[in-house]
Amino acid sequence: MYKLFIRPLLFCFDPEKVHYFTFSLIRFLNKILGFSSLFQALYEVKDARLEREVFGIKFKNPVGLAAGFDKDAKLYQELSNFGFGFIEIGTLTPVGQEGNPKKRLFRLKEDNAIINRMGFNNGGVKEAVERLKKNKGVLIGGNIGKNKVTPNEEAVKDYEICFEALFPYVDYFVVNVSSPNTPNLRELQDKKPLTELLQTLQNQNNSKPKQKPILLKIAPDLTDEQLLDIIDIVNETKIAGVIATNTTISRQGLQSENKSEMGGLSGKPLTKRSTEVIRFLSEKSNQSFPIIGVGGIHTAEDAIQKLNAGASLVQLYTGFIYEGPALVKAINKKILENS
Ligand SMILES: Cc1cc2nc3c(=O)[nH]c(=O)nc-3n(C[C@H](O)[C@H](O)[C@H](O)COP(=O)(O)O)c2cc1C
Repeated sequence: MYKLFIRPLLFCFDPEKVHYFTFSLIRFLNKILGFSSLFQALYEVKDARLEREVFGIKFKNPVGLAAGFDKDAKLYQELSNFGFGFIEIGTLTPVGQEGNPKKRLFRLKEDNAIINRMGFNNGGVKEAVERLKKNKGVLIGGNIGKNKVTPNEEAVKDYEICFEALFPYVDYFVVNVSSPNTPNLRELQDKKPLTELLQTLQNQNNSKPKQKPILLKIAPDLTDEQLLDIIDIVNETKIAGVIATNTTISRQGLQSENKSEMGGLSGKPLTKRSTEVIRFLSEKSNQSFPIIGVGGIHTAEDAIQKLNAGASLVQLYTGFIYEGPALVKAINKKILENS
């Protein structure tokens, strides 16, 4: 139904406008009596064999929505009706910001991919907190970043502000230093600044009566040497785990004519590389920390490959756009078949 009727229609229009339109539509439909239960009945797979306990949190199933789709925590409640086990909001920054000038979101239809250079457009952490106060039981990851105007030398403060504000309202944190769309952000993935950033957040975490898991989200473009550094840093700072991966700056093997747009590439061309990164981290660390696998999951089999490579949970973004909500159900069903 989605791929035959809804997607062809949506794909006729500007991707960012379609994003906001579908947002409004999902919200509207969920307000009509019976629709949220209908979505749940259509897409949720309830089975104790899907439950996972990862970094001390119980997930009802291992399939989540990746960061960037519901940056401002406006729709997490409704999105969870599509059967997701968890929703990651953000990336949020201390102060709201516009992001990069439009047009900044591109479909690469021939490649089943997206290029985005949104640049952390968001309303700021405070507004998101107000919305999260109304959460009725959705498991939430809080993805945090820095404002564009904050120089890297002062970035730690931005992450601390977001961490503090979100602390009571999210179940786990994600430190995003891997978006290609905030100038110089990815330099924070280098060993020294990254250790300092994560250690500061961990200290802040340790000062709380009960700690929350902090994960690091990494780029798929890191070299093996850099990935080995990441393993050292995770072990040294004792953060809870890693999300692999964010979008890539690589443009290898693309067919679409708009393939040269600047920004991060997501979707099918990322499937193999992000799975490689997961396998590398899992093997070289002797599975010493959990990994959330994300990048180019467009079929249930793609998700299974990430789980087999060492991921404990998976997330979708581009696959959700191209395949629709039925993908969430298909993955959960496949996991059950294999269990
Ligand atoms: C339009 C768009 C916006 C995104 N925004 C964010 C973001 O704000 N923070 C983040 O950590 N990742 C962001 N991502 C990256 C996704 O969370 C995910 O890591 C990446 O797209 C790979 O997964 P996919 O191939 O399933 O899309 C964004 C991706 C897209 C397509």
